[in-house]
Amino acid sequence: MYNQIKLPYAYDALEPHIDALTMETHYSKHHAAYTKNLNDAVQKAGIEEKEITSLLSSLDSIADEAVRKAIRNNGGGFYNHNLYFSTMSPDGGGQPQGTLGRELEKTFGSFSEFQAGLSNLAAGQFGSGWGWLSANRDGKLILSSSANQDNPLMEGNGFVPILGIDVWEHAYYLKYKNLRADYIKAFFDVIDWKAVAENYDKVIGG
Ligand SMILES: [Fe+2]
Repeated sequence: MYNQIKLPYAYDALEPHIDALTMETHYSKHHAAYTKNLNDAVQKAGIEEKEITSLLSSLDSIADEAVRKAIRNNGGGFYNHNLYFSTMSPDGGGQPQGTLGRELEKTFGSFSEFQAGLSNLAAGQFGSGWGWLSANRDGKLILSSSANQDNPLMEGNGFVPILGIDVWEHAYYLKYKNLRADYIKAFFDVIDWKAVAENYDKVIGG
């Protein structure tokens, strides 16, 4: 059975950047629904439960189109939100140190260029979707965006997301209305770079 991560902070802990009602609705309704629907789909289809990254990296092996679609949407929603909620913190913001910090500078020139690149991709994603920072086993970093609940794992190129910005309207509309760019700016104030660096280390070490 796939389980939502336990939120490591209270719903109102990310105020004023992310408001409490958005957090509560996002986690207890949207994320909960993706998780339930994923578990239902896997169980109903009799698919052997495997690690979520393996499941999402091998969607092509699911023959039934409806089941494949249900797992793509809900498995993506389950995984993406576990990543999202676990990389925010009331003590977040700033810049990463150590290996990840150096690699970001090497790849993008500077932290601000990285931030601008990811922000532009997230802001420019048409409709619902995500902006991503991903890494591969060699430690390489790339930015991308995706529609709906798709994520870089589904592209099968060895890149694993280590940070995702949810740009579905449910992530920001209650507070920011149509101002997605303002939400993206606020998201950077709550990024838990320690958690992202741990994700990076896991990809390299795995
Ligand atoms: Fe979301």
